[in-house]
Amino acid sequence: MNQPVMGGVAALNVPTYIKQQKLVNWVAEVAALTKPARIYWCDGSQEEYDRLCAEMVASGTMKKLNQALRPNSYLACSDPSDVARVEDRTFICSATKDEAGPTNNWMAPGEMRATLNPLFDGCMAGRTMYVVPFSMGPLGSPIAHIGVELSDSPYVAVNMRIMTRMGKAVYDVLGTDGEFVPCVHSVGAPLAAGQQDVAWPCNATKYIVHFPETREIWSYGSGYGGNALLGKKCFALRIASNMGHQQAQADGMGWLAEHMLILGVESPEGKKHYVAAAFPSACGKTNFAMLIPPATFKGWKITTIGDDIAWIKPGADGRLYAINPEAGYFGVAPGTNTRTNSNCMASLGENTIFTNVALTDDGDIWWEGLTKEAPAHLIDWQGKDWTPASGTKAAHPNARFTVAATQNPVIDPAWDDPAGVPISAFIFGGRRSTTVPLVTEARNWVEGVYMAATMGSETTAAAAGQMGVVRRDPFAMLPFMGYNMSDYFQHWLNMGEKLGQINAATLPKIYCVNWFRTDEQGHFVWPGFGDNMRVLKWMLERIEGTAGGIENIFGTTPRFGDLKWDGIPFSPEEFETITSIDKDAWREELKLHDELFAKLAYHLPTELTAVKAELEKRLAR
Ligand code: OXD
Ligand code: MN
Repeated sequence: MNQPVMGGVAALNVPTYIKQQKLVNWVAEVAALTKPARIYWCDGSQEEYDRLCAEMVASGTMKKLNQALRPNSYLACSDPSDVARVEDRTFICSATKDEAGPTNNWMAPGEMRATLNPLFDGCMAGRTMYVVPFSMGPLGSPIAHIGVELSDSPYVAVNMRIMTRMGKAVYDVLGTDGEFVPCVHSVGAPLAAGQQDVAWPCNATKYIVHFPETREIWSYGSGYGGNALLGKKCFALRIASNMGHQQAQADGMGWLAEHMLILGVESPEGKKHYVAAAFPSACGKTNFAMLIPPATFKGWKITTIGDDIAWIKPGADGRLYAINPEAGYFGVAPGTNTRTNSNCMASLGENTIFTNVALTDDGDIWWEGLTKEAPAHLIDWQGKDWTPASGTKAAHPNARFTVAATQNPVIDPAWDDPAGVPISAFIFGGRRSTTVPLVTEARNWVEGVYMAATMGSETTAAAAGQMGVVRRDPFAMLPFMGYNMSDYFQHWLNMGEKLGQINAATLPKIYCVNWFRTDEQGHFVWPGFGDNMRVLKWMLERIEGTAGGIENIFGTTPRFGDLKWDGIPFSPEEFETITSIDKDAWREELKLHDELFAKLAYHLPTELTAVKAELEKRLAR
């Protein structure tokens, strides 16, 4: 099928089912620049997936796991220099720096193109360029959008098949003139004639670049995760947030691309609501999206729409409808086990790609936290012999699994509904050992936007930087914002105002949560995981208008008696530890909000400074 190089230019081999000349021209243009040895158009079939995986097993990029223990599953181990997203190498190249805003790296588009061109010139030499067509969201959904990724990594091609609706059917939606987001990806490791490849090609120079005006993504030098699977953070958040904002200029409303999981929560009486929740990376989003209610919550059901990203568009009825633009989960493996997330463990039983976990002697996988006791011997993520005495991590802390959403035992029946699901509430949460209470309901949309805009999270071992330092992460979008953060706040405020005018009663409620408060000894007080159901139940009842609460400085919080406690011995004193408001701590906190607002002063909505002034007044009382 793959044609040999002819006169230095690979044959295009355009399949007959492709009807769009603009797409073909673009593929030809990128091929002329990157000079791959072959061009391969992915059809998304199982046969193709199996073949590409087998080729990667033969080339040493992946290992096939024990077929009896972990059917149709693979382990890929990356180069130790290529293990995570590279935020400092990520650029938003809008026409002006102000449009990218102070939270993004920016370079003028012309200058960036001049930088990238020589890097991409010939960068795919000796390799196959895979043409990967994908839909973010159910095919043909009015909330979905299409992308095409050109990549010289077969690992990217197979992961994209799991993470998106990838394959031939996308071309039917694209037709002769449909829009697509062009995504170019190279590991940046051209092969000279006869040069032996390495298991994980990549380049020390990395660029993850977005051009919002032309909606292009160019990624160079990394084969890992969000740097390389361009449908995820690059398209579904950075480019899509821009698209939603630009749309507001066209139709006065726009839409939202958010770093949010979406879950369904259903009461025993059959009342069902969907909520979308934003948490920074490494705060347990996948666990929350697949939560198993405590045994005493008979009849309560939690179902998953998505675990990482939500695309949300307004309906004519003034409600917000959300889809999960992805079709799979690219989750952090370490810490996942049958106690923390048994639904997730059940999802990973087969057909899974693991990256940077450890290999057991019987050809299965292991990571820190999977079992209480580590196996006596493993091959670690760097291919070295490992024993519990090694003193190193067997799996990389950012090791991942890639698995189809359909393997989730609690997938919501509407997860693939092109119409999306109506959102009743937004939840914003960070990892804070002090100050922020367990749960607070905003009194109104503007106060909710303030909570989201000022949210912060303490850095963990897995995140870069110092442990325990609070990083402001507005809307959990800091690394994923595609335009000016203050314009984004304004976009949220505008949408809330307009939706409220259509139907104030269905405007989603907004909550701020914190599962991570600690006691004086530094121990987490809140059990988290399944017990987060207790908080969700309160929210659902607030939405239904049946639960009580008490108004305080920041909004409305439940009293001890407003939550259902059956099944855990949680005392009112412990509740006080995680819900009390320390006025001095909040005065310090508000100083940090000042710092954030000073940084975001350009276009900062005055509504937000007004909320802050109100908070200060209440604190002074
Ligand atoms: C992710 C992240 O991988 O947020 O989802 O970093
Ligand atoms: Mn994420």
